[in-house]
Amino acid sequence: GRKFFVGGNFKMNGTVSGIKDIVHNISTAKTDPNTEVVVAPPALYLLLTREHLDPKFEVAAQNIFDKPSGAFTGEISASQLKDSGINWTLLGHSERRTVLREDDDFIASKTKSAIEQGVGVILCCGESLEEREKGTTVDVVTRQLDAVNKMVDKEAWKNIVIAYEPIWAIGTGKVATTEQAQEVHAAIRDWLSKSVSSEAAENTRIIYGGSVSDKNCRELAKEKDIDGFLVGGASLKPAFVDIINANQ
Ligand code: 13P
Repeated sequence: GRKFFVGGNFKMNGTVSGIKDIVHNISTAKTDPNTEVVVAPPALYLLLTREHLDPKFEVAAQNIFDKPSGAFTGEISASQLKDSGINWTLLGHSERRTVLREDDDFIASKTKSAIEQGVGVILCCGESLEEREKGTTVDVVTRQLDAVNKMVDKEAWKNIVIAYEPIWAIGTGKVATTEQAQEVHAAIRDWLSKSVSSEAAENTRIIYGGSVSDKNCRELAKEKDIDGFLVGGASLKPAFVDIINANQ
């Protein structure tokens, strides 16, 4: 079976003392040993988080650049993450796709760079409300995944977790229904089987993000193709522990 996976995306939130508190709370809580937990603070607090988080949990960057080093002011690389004990990164979050105007090919190139350096990728995909209403959800998501698949080899998917995050559900309190999420997760698994391999379809974790809370996580976790969550707002609160334990 696929190991349940819960990521906490702090986005651009937190302070030195606030992040220490959150990390301490997660580290000392009673958490399901069968769930993999990865916490993604702002870049400035990655090392602080690594220092204070229990070693059984992993830390992720929220983004990287696609070159290992050089004259790229303001950017950080996958090899620098590795050097700092940070073994994961988010890539392709919708906030970066829209606000920072990142395109599919740039995200694919960054994914390739992370995988080459041995950094695991939480690869985000998802449609806007307009795209959902036009009926193009699966087209959009598979286009985003195809761009990555063109640039990486099949083995790379062993180190990629796919996060399906419908944009209309992010930070809105409007969570996808269990049926809506399951339908897209199943379509992504079908895409994996056709475009990567049956092994990738069987083993790749597909996690859901968008207004996940301690109230709705258990119902979602029962769906057969939902292998965990990517949590924004609620990852900053004590309730994050209940989401980590959603699969118990
Ligand atoms: P919320 O949980 O705040 O809706 O954010 C989801 C998200 O974007 C996680 O990456």
